[in-house]
Amino acid sequence: MKQVTAKIIRNEPVLKELARRHARSISGSWLIWLRCPEIAREVRPGQFVMVRCGEKLTLPRPFSVHRVKENRVALFFTVWADGQGTHWLSRRKAGDSLELFGPLGNGYDIYRASKNLLLVGGGMGVAPLYFLGEQARDQGYALTLLLGAQTASQLYPEKLLPSGIDLVTATDDGTAGKKGSVSALLPDYTSRADQIFACGPRAMYRAMSPMPALKDKPVQVSLEARMGCGLGICYGCTVRINNGLRQVCQDGPVFNLNDLPAEELNPI
Ligand SMILES: Cc1cc2nc3c(=O)[nH]c(=O)nc-3n(C[C@H](O)[C@H](O)[C@H](O)COP(=O)(O)OP(=O)(O)OC[C@H]3O[C@@H](n4cnc5c(N)ncnc54)[C@H](O)[C@@H]3O)c2cc1C
Ligand code: FES
Repeated sequence: MKQVTAKIIRNEPVLKELARRHARSISGSWLIWLRCPEIAREVRPGQFVMVRCGEKLTLPRPFSVHRVKENRVALFFTVWADGQGTHWLSRRKAGDSLELFGPLGNGYDIYRASKNLLLVGGGMGVAPLYFLGEQARDQGYALTLLLGAQTASQLYPEKLLPSGIDLVTATDDGTAGKKGSVSALLPDYTSRADQIFACGPRAMYRAMSPMPALKDKPVQVSLEARMGCGLGICYGCTVRINNGLRQVCQDGPVFNLNDLPAEELNPI
């Protein structure tokens, strides 16, 4: 784990705002590129970094590593309409410095014997799956990415996705791809998959958990939790898994889906 000051190379909005009456509104989603050789060298897909979002906020914010290119690292983050940290981050400019530490946590684990990988991303879930998909593709795995969002304007742009990965999309309101949730696509794609890797809201895992099509498949999911320190000190990220308590920042964020009891899959 390294504590670094990274120079911002680029910080640009990628997805538009979304006003929501019954959920937190979104002011947009940004892609930020950082010059950060210490983290670029070490990080593995599914790991995250803690970013200090301004002097006034005492708690750093966790973000998955989205992409790695030579000595650069990208984060893909939602700016919450009421989110102080992400608002601050979206206002940083090229040339500004950012304090962060990482890489943290346990990432996704691809088995040597696997050939066909299925990635399932709900909303911002594409953040760690991009890095996983790009690295796995370069190692010769065959990949399918199921990507879902509430509406077309919140779907990660296809032109930014890595080439060589089969893409299938779904939106809740049917404005792009198949109408419905991304988890509803799963039964049609699981039979060929040796392993399934998911990242999305807990509601997505709740829908996936009882699916007969996933019963005998290894499914790894990245779990979000409210984090204070990211270092195993504050116990703020503790979750109950089937055989005891775990800290998402140290034991996760990636867990096996069948280790997570139903009560842990309620919204945080
Ligand atoms: C391992 C991990 C990886 C993540 N990766 C990404 C990513 O790649 N892209 C992305 O957009 N978001 C990601 N998140 C969620 C992101 O950390 C929150 O959206 C962000 O902290 C909100 O900060 P804020 O100051 O804008 O919001 P505020 O609501 O002002 O934050 C208040 C406090 O709550 C915590 N918090 C609020 N929402 C969350 C949440 N959903 N998860 C964890 N802590 C939360 C913050 O850390 C902070 O301490 C990740 C979370 C975790 C745990
Ligand atoms: S965030 Fe503090 S122990 Fe996990």
